[in-house]
Amino acid sequence: MTADPTVRTMSRPRRALQEIVTYACMAPSVHNTQPWSWHVDGDSIALHSDTRRQLAHADPSGRDLAISCGAALHHAQVAAGALGWTATVDRLPEGEDSTLLAVIGLTAAAPAPDAIDLLQSIRDRHTDRRRFTSWPVPKERLDHLAEVAAEWGADAVVVHEPGKRVRTELLVGRAFDRQAADPGVAEEQKGWVNRSARDGVPDVVIPADLPTETHRRTRFGGGLLTEPDRELEATDGLLLLRGGSDDVLAWLRTGEGLSALWLQATAGGLSVVPLSQAIEVEETRERLRSDVLHGLGAPHMLVRVGWQAIGRGLLPRTPRRPLEDVLTW
Ligand SMILES: Cc1cc2nc3c(=O)[nH]c(=O)nc-3n(C[C@H](O)[C@H](O)[C@H](O)COP(=O)(O)O)c2cc1C
Repeated sequence: MTADPTVRTMSRPRRALQEIVTYACMAPSVHNTQPWSWHVDGDSIALHSDTRRQLAHADPSGRDLAISCGAALHHAQVAAGALGWTATVDRLPEGEDSTLLAVIGLTAAAPAPDAIDLLQSIRDRHTDRRRFTSWPVPKERLDHLAEVAAEWGADAVVVHEPGKRVRTELLVGRAFDRQAADPGVAEEQKGWVNRSARDGVPDVVIPADLPTETHRRTRFGGGLLTEPDRELEATDGLLLLRGGSDDVLAWLRTGEGLSALWLQATAGGLSVVPLSQAIEVEETRERLRSDVLHGLGAPHMLVRVGWQAIGRGLLPRTPRRPLEDVLTW
């Protein structure tokens, strides 16, 4: 049978659109809030932010929310390409103050040649907060991830120089302490752990101990995930994603870049863990801007990149909201 794009556009839109949105919703989001909703209009899909899911204490400006939605937007574009559609994206068509973040227009096309691998990377990607192995991540690998982010309009800086690394780690630790001492932020975070079968972060993916070494800290601890190989000296790479400005469009772009580099890392066997606390806390964000970026650009997101031990058990996947909760027609 010959593929007639016109016929396909008319006869299969609903299933294809559902599939694209399902893949898009596998994207990472802060505390697994999944702060998005999708609306199909003809052959295009509108992405809205769901501000009811914004973290009022940790993320009052909506930066993490927009980055999360940007990651979902990138997932949607990759899935569309893999499933045989060309996606054309109009970002913020109604301006910054609208919840409408993007409209994705779809036209039938040949599926991307590496379609199977792309979709597999989306399914495989997840946040693994267990300790990395002692294998260093070569600088070229980190540079390549930064280039991948740049292809999607994001700017990622490899934090390589030892002095800057130490400064960054100290700021990560300071942000952690600041938020731990802030009852509003701490309570809010608690509310997203083991929240429901459709959102939040289950304790089975949270390390049991809250590591004291600064370079291992993530915001979550006290979960059920145990680590037998504690004696290993872990190493990692650090990437700081930044924007020319600190606004919704720039955050959306950073989210797309974050997703792109994360899928690329996943395909290459690397693990990525976002560290947004140092950005959420104003004092440490400003220090990152001045001491690490030398005033060039606005810090949006910090990520650790490393190798997980081969043969380690697979982590359960975090839940997602059902399609009928997030998609309207
Ligand atoms: C904007 C953003 C900020 C995040 N911040 C953190 C963080 O500070 N610490 C952390 O451990 N995970 C962080 N994450 C990862 C989320 O917790 C994770 O994506 C979510 O729980 C869904 O799980 P999954 O990535 O395994 O699908 C962040 C993710 C995004 C998109």
